[in-house]
Amino acid sequence: MDPSLRILVGDRPEDVGREGARILLRCAVARTGDNARFAAAVAGGSTPRGMHRMLAQDPFLSAVPWDRTHLFWVDERCVPQDDPASNYGTARGDFLERIPIPRANIHPMDGEKPPLQGALDYESLLKDFFDMDHGKAPALDLVFLGVGPDGHTASLFPGHRVLKEKERLVAAVRGGEPYRDRMTMTLPLLNQAREVVFLVTGQAKSRMMEALFHRWDKGLPANRVRPPGGRLTWLLDREAASLLVQGGRVEWEAIDNR
Ligand code: 6PG
Repeated sequence: MDPSLRILVGDRPEDVGREGARILLRCAVARTGDNARFAAAVAGGSTPRGMHRMLAQDPFLSAVPWDRTHLFWVDERCVPQDDPASNYGTARGDFLERIPIPRANIHPMDGEKPPLQGALDYESLLKDFFDMDHGKAPALDLVFLGVGPDGHTASLFPGHRVLKEKERLVAAVRGGEPYRDRMTMTLPLLNQAREVVFLVTGQAKSRMMEALFHRWDKGLPANRVRPPGGRLTWLLDREAASLLVQGGRVEWEAIDNR
């Protein structure tokens, strides 16, 4: 199997969250060694919440170089930040309010702007952050993603024309359950990341994991995230991996939950 692709399986969702936090710590320390900034994008939905809460506790709370860490979002629902559906609002309660990260290092998408304007403004923010006007690539150091039962990731939904996007870094889309306006990072941006980590837990995702890895169904958006120059890690719990690990058709490793 491609050495840049790893599948790690933990017994419980907490093992997935802890391994994700460990990867963030490893990447942040490596990246900020020479005082550079560390740019990570976090996912919405429920799966990452366990990891986010762990980041607000030691060892991660005191070990992550939060002063040089910048947080972005892979997608956002077009709602106010205090709406329960807001990915940023959820993250604020889960960890942002409890970690010593400078406010200026937190870069939420603005769910209260008209979707297209919000997407354009976020793309401008990314272009400025990565100094793209001087030819630099918008290469996020670390991107966390989830997967929906239909194989969507971020707000990239099956069959949506946004999957054909080749230029834009951020797009305005409609989709999801409930069906609503959203903003999402696009495949051109996600596939420039240095490292992408999928967090997937629960029996409800087991059939999708089988489709993603046994059938390599290219129509599934999550299968389109494959940073050519980066590392791709799937962190699964045993329930989500239950159909995948049977039959030895994919190589996987156990998460070290010490
Ligand atoms: C969103 C997420 C979305 C999520 C998947 C999985 O804004 O809804 O970005 O892509 O990652 O739907 O969601 P769960 O983690 O809740 O299963």
